[in-house]
Amino acid sequence: MTADALNYRALTGAALAATLDDVARLRIAVFREYPHLYDGDLAYERRYLHSYRDNPSAIVVGAFDDGRLVGASTGTALKGHDPAFVGPVAGAGLDISRVFYCAESVLLAEYRGRGAGHAFFDMREARALASGHDISVFCAVIRSDDHPQKPGSYRPLDPFWRARGYRPLEGAVAAFDWKEIGEAPESTHRLAFWWRRLSP
Ligand SMILES: CC(C)(COP(=O)(O)OP(=O)(O)OC[C@H]1O[C@@H](n2cnc3c(N)ncnc32)[C@H](O)[C@@H]1OP(=O)(O)O)[C@@H](O)C(=O)NCCC(=O)NCCS
Repeated sequence: MTADALNYRALTGAALAATLDDVARLRIAVFREYPHLYDGDLAYERRYLHSYRDNPSAIVVGAFDDGRLVGASTGTALKGHDPAFVGPVAGAGLDISRVFYCAESVLLAEYRGRGAGHAFFDMREARALASGHDISVFCAVIRSDDHPQKPGSYRPLDPFWRARGYRPLEGAVAAFDWKEIGEAPESTHRLAFWWRRLSP
């Protein structure tokens, strides 16, 4: 596998709907890692991902290796999305109708460090502008620095996000439930928002 072997496709509409179960499987695999520690299942995934199927502005950027989906990134207009994400952004004073929500990015570990993270942002930000949005936001799970599950090799993505022009959206924190590995049913997790303005 070389970096060039990854092929990126912007999926919308029926093509997006057709790929959601594969996106779900990737989310379950990749989000098991710190910092998400997500103990996922397809039933939870289908409840979570259906909002992308229903939103005409939604996009899945798929990263394919020889036809196999090895990474994916999602985005959608924030307006009409889950209130758990809309509320904190509105509360921070942003005009929701201008905001595009860049949701998850997941890539199998063996494909990392070859530019997929940049491609995922490039294609979602292009979709944001094309659908009339000039503000991009995303969320990052909040973990304590001394979290017992943090691997010694863990490298935060903050420098990457800052280099992409994002900064923390002060005062905006989402509360979202998922089942964490080794825990009883779902617990509530806190996610911080990052944002940037977009221009064509
Ligand atoms: C987020 C994710 C998709 C990015 O994929 P990626 O392959 O690392 O992306 P890129 O190769 O474009 O790298 C993005 C940046 O990460 C940093 N980075 C990635 N790999 C690195 C490495 N081996 N050494 C140093 N820096 C590295 C760099 O800052 C890089 O930007 P640069 O090349 O301009 O310096 C991937 O890391 C992932 O799936 N992580 C787990 C899930 C997750 O945390 N998602 C984000 C929240 S939803």
